[in-house]
Amino acid sequence: MTDQPSTAAASSEGKRPRVVLGVGGGIAAYKACELLRRLTESGHDVTVVPTAAALNFVGAATWSALSGKPVAADVWTSVHEVPHVRIGQTADLVIVAPATADLLGKAAHGLADDLLTNTLLTARCPVVFAPAMHTEMWEHAATQANVATVRERGAVVVEPAVGRLTGKDTGKGRLPDPEELFELATEVLARGVAEPDLAGRHVVVSAGGTREYLDPVRFLGNRSSGLQGYALARAAAARGAEVTLIAANVTLPDPAGVKVIRVVSTGELRDQVVAAAALADSVVMAAAPADFRPVGVSDTKIKKADDGSSPTIELTQNPDILAEISAHRARDGQVIVGFAAETGDGSGSVMDHARAKLARKGCDLLVVNDVSGGAVFGSPDNEAVILGADGAAVDVPHGSKSALAHVIWDQVASRLSG
Ligand code: CTP
Repeated sequence: MTDQPSTAAASSEGKRPRVVLGVGGGIAAYKACELLRRLTESGHDVTVVPTAAALNFVGAATWSALSGKPVAADVWTSVHEVPHVRIGQTADLVIVAPATADLLGKAAHGLADDLLTNTLLTARCPVVFAPAMHTEMWEHAATQANVATVRERGAVVVEPAVGRLTGKDTGKGRLPDPEELFELATEVLARGVAEPDLAGRHVVVSAGGTREYLDPVRFLGNRSSGLQGYALARAAAARGAEVTLIAANVTLPDPAGVKVIRVVSTGELRDQVVAAAALADSVVMAAAPADFRPVGVSDTKIKKADDGSSPTIELTQNPDILAEISAHRARDGQVIVGFAAETGDGSGSVMDHARAKLARKGCDLLVVNDVSGGAVFGSPDNEAVILGADGAAVDVPHGSKSALAHVIWDQVASRLSG
């Protein structure tokens, strides 16, 4: 991580983190309103700096009302406060959403003809660009060269999402979901810009909980939210990896720049994980697969019997995906990570069960959560011990799932490079 101002530092001094939200002139400007709301509601001090073109899409009154501050696009408003220098100099983070092709071009070439481009030149904090434009504009050699230039200088440029664009067309170029941009912004504020130590690596992460249907409306499932798996995918993407996220029944927005494959059952999860693992440097099984499935699935809704008797549901065991991919490694040096949610009992402590599971599954690392209180599911926080097949044991104190994700990738990265 680079040595950047952080939320932690700002809050320990009792200051609200100062965020500049730059808004470019694209239709996705309306989505930046939601990002602004999330930032202000979570205690950030946000100054919105739209371009003149952005004000054609969303007016100054909206930005001003939502941020609680005056808003200007030019450098001639309140000149006595020298805003073209002060706003950038005092920021803890600048996030530009949406970043248009024009703005990326200006940033790459150091042009400064309005307040936002001046701010980009005076900011010494982390800068995040979230581009949104039509696919052709994104793929154009000029845009790609500008993106490469600003990345080389240390800015984060989020890959646009794939989906419906302004007109009837679809493709790469959508602004990622505002909630996802919020997660990214808080992550960069807390940890600075991640070092690209996973660049050139392909990693696979599974997330969520699988469902095994009994009939068209009922299923056996579990309480996994997918938050930890999504945090892992986001962290790996931030560290430069190509990420495939296999998500079982997760309702969270897609992490920016991550390929998401959706599955329902353990059988589908198994097939997708095995296929993706063939090309992966690392596989992290953060999903909670259902261990059993009904022997038969009814095509029609199972009705209550007239005589009041209860149906008997016969179950059969699902494949153990982690054990399978660990036993049949697709590549030499592949690092495989499992999770274990354990409680102690009469036959052993949490760690006794965890060590036995690590040996049984045959993976390289096992992230062990003590779930005696049932506290992990759906919570934004986590604490764990990471056990290594090589005997390592790393304690990760209580913190965000994102912080745990980064410690896991630290462990993976050191094994990949070793
Ligand atoms: N796992 C898997 N396939 C399964 C079940 C679990 O790949 N059918 C993976 C999980 O993704 C997790 C690890 O195995 O990374 C441990 O999950 P857990 O449910 O604790 O393992 P189980 O083998 O089901 O052990 P237990 O009998 O303790 O439930």
